[in-house]
This record gives sequence, structure tokens and C-alpha cells, in this order.
Amino acid sequence: IDFKIITNNGTHESMKMLIDLKNIFARQLPKMPKEYIVRLVFDRNHESMCIIKDNTKVIGGICYRKYPTQRFAEIAFLAITATLQVKGYGTRLMNKFKEHIQKQDVEYLLTYADNYAIGYFRKQGFYQEIKMQPDRWKGFIKDYDGGTLMECYVHPFIDYGN
Ligand code: ACO
Repeated sequence: IDFKIITNNGTHESMKMLIDLKNIFARQLPKMPKEYIVRLVFDRNHESMCIIKDNTKVIGGICYRKYPTQRFAEIAFLAITATLQVKGYGTRLMNKFKEHIQKQDVEYLLTYADNYAIGYFRKQGFYQEIKMQPDRWKGFIKDYDGGTLMECYVHPFIDYGN
């Protein structure tokens, strides 16, 4: 298992992985409009961390956007392919993601969690109580009804590596 940060940099390899990841999101997040998923996954302000099996096969990932001046990042989409869910990959992905984002001087993660994913996010250290001051994040991320806003503090000195 490898974890790779992929951006829309125009290379064939990145495009292929982003298409695979987009397809996983589209299947696992059926309430999200497909065009919206495509737009964000290929948007140059967004990056994705992919989990890759056997060197080439994307089995899941996180699409996110950093707001460096605000020192937070928003998780737009997160999914593991259906046949490999509830085997611990989602937890490993989140730990790797925290380890990565910590080095980028990000202090908080925000996400609109689907109701059925709230339990997963809680186990990953996300809370419904938002500790960041509203002026730090309001207006930066879009309101999205049908999801519950959750926040996770990324401690600068915790070793999230696994
Ligand atoms: N509700 C409650 N608990 C859950 C859920 C859930 N939907 N999914 C997993 N868990 C629990 C597991 O039981 C496990 O608990 P344990 O540690 O006590 O055993 C823990 O969370 C971690 O499980 P993993 O095996 O690491 O999680 P998995 O690899 O299945 O990844 C994920 C979790 C990403 C939510 C996956 O199930 C998935 O892709 N689901 C469909 C798509 C989805 O809901 N994505 C999130 C939508 S919100 C958003 O994208 C911003």
C-alpha cells in the first residue's frame, strides 16, 4: 500500500489516477452530482491523497483544499472502494493525511460529513463543535446542506505516522 499526493499537473499518470479516484467518489457518494465531483477533483486548487495498491490500483482517497493563510484545510470527498471498506484503510488514509497536512502548517481540518459517515469521522478525531473562530473559515468554504460540519485539530507535535 502506498499513499500519493496527486494534483492535476497534466501528466498521463496523474490524470489516470484522478479519473480512477473520481470514479470511486462518484460510486460511493451517489448524492453528490457527478459534475461537481469532476470539477473539484480536477480543480487546480484541490489536491488528492490516493491509496494505491499493487503500485497502480487506486483503492480510495481524499480530495481536499488547503487555505494556507487560514491554516486550515477542507476535506471535500473521502472514500474507499466498496469491496475494501471496513478493513482499516480509511483510518490509515486519515492518519497519513494528518501526517502530511501537519507538515504544511495546517492546524485544523473541516469537512461536511454525510450523516452515515459521522461515526467514521468521530473515530478519526472530528467533532461537531467548531473551535475555530468563524471569521477564520466562514466565507472561505461553501455552506452545504445535507452534511454536518465537523472539525479536527491537527496537533503540531503528535506523530500521526502509521
Ligand atoms: N459509520 C460508523 N462507523 C464507521 C463507518 C460509518 N459509515 N464507516 C466506518 N466506520 C468505522 C469502522 O467500523 C471502524 O471502527 P473501529 O475502528 O471501531 O473498527 C472505523 O470507522 C474505521 O473503519 P475503516 O475500516 O478504517 O474505514 P473504511 O476503510 O471503511 O473507510 C469510509 C471509511 C471512507 C467512510 C468508507 O467506509 C467509505 O468510503 N464509505 C462510503 C463513502 C463515504 O461515506 N464517504 C464519506 C462521506 S463524507 C465526505 O466525503 C466529506
